Amino acid sequence: MIEVSDIVKSYSIGGQALKAVDHASFTVQQGEIISVIGHSGSGKTTLLSLVGGLTKPDSGKVIVDGTDIWSLDDNSRSHFRNRNMSFIYQFSSLIPTLTSLENILLPTAFGDFPGDVRAYAEELIERVGLKEKTNAYPSHLSGGQQRRIAIARAFINRPSVVLADEPTGDLDEEAEQDIIRLFSEMNSALKTTFIIVTHNKEIAGQAARQLSMSNGILTGAA
Ligand SMILES: Nc1ncnc2c1ncn2[C@@H]1O[C@H](COP(=O)(O)OP(=O)(O)OP(=O)(O)O)[C@@H](O)[C@H]1O
Ligand SMILES: [Mg+2]
Repeated sequence: MIEVSDIVKSYSIGGQALKAVDHASFTVQQGEIISVIGHSGSGKTTLLSLVGGLTKPDSGKVIVDGTDIWSLDDNSRSHFRNRNMSFIYQFSSLIPTLTSLENILLPTAFGDFPGDVRAYAEELIERVGLKEKTNAYPSHLSGGQQRRIAIARAFINRPSVVLADEPTGDLDEEAEQDIIRLFSEMNSALKTTFIIVTHNKEIAGQAARQLSMSNGILTGAA
């Protein structure tokens, strides 16, 4: 469960304060899938990065599974993130010198992961339909294929929460539906909570609950 209360993040641009996220509050139950829709520059990526422990809010609280993540020190927060949360970034985030399989396994280098992680990585690569690209480097993959590898990587730690920033951004309709199906399977199997940021009204509409963002202000939150 995620409880966000009254978070604010401002950037100073040419001496002017810009409120990228302006007093946002919302709750996401464990196993819930919500979407956040909004125009470019409305603060969606900033919101995800505050919730995900990557950008510190100026004020407000983010509680994930009972842990107030911004009260932790940097090390504890990284550890918590690595064990419980995953990001699917808006832009390519694969390490160019690692193969698909190695990229998916990368998070496991930062902690003890239970079970046979390699076998699980291979299962995930199959789930995203890219078994034949197991040993390929990112530069030999299309944008959509890179995206699917990044999605597979997001599941390697069996996260309780997945924060997905335009996860289907550069995919065709069929691959897009495959990813949504994968999300929904992970959601049923592992009770994974999803926050999905998207411009795509159809994708947003498939979430159980839809929030929207405009000029840093979040609406539709319970
Ligand atoms: N590190 C930063 N420094 C200064 N301003 C920033 C920074 N990051 C974001 N902003 C500003 O904050 C606002 C929100 O940006 P954000 O990236 O959250 O928008 P977004 O909704 O994700 O947009 P998009 O749909 O284009 O990805 C924008 O006006 C942006 O220019
Ligand atoms: Mg963004």
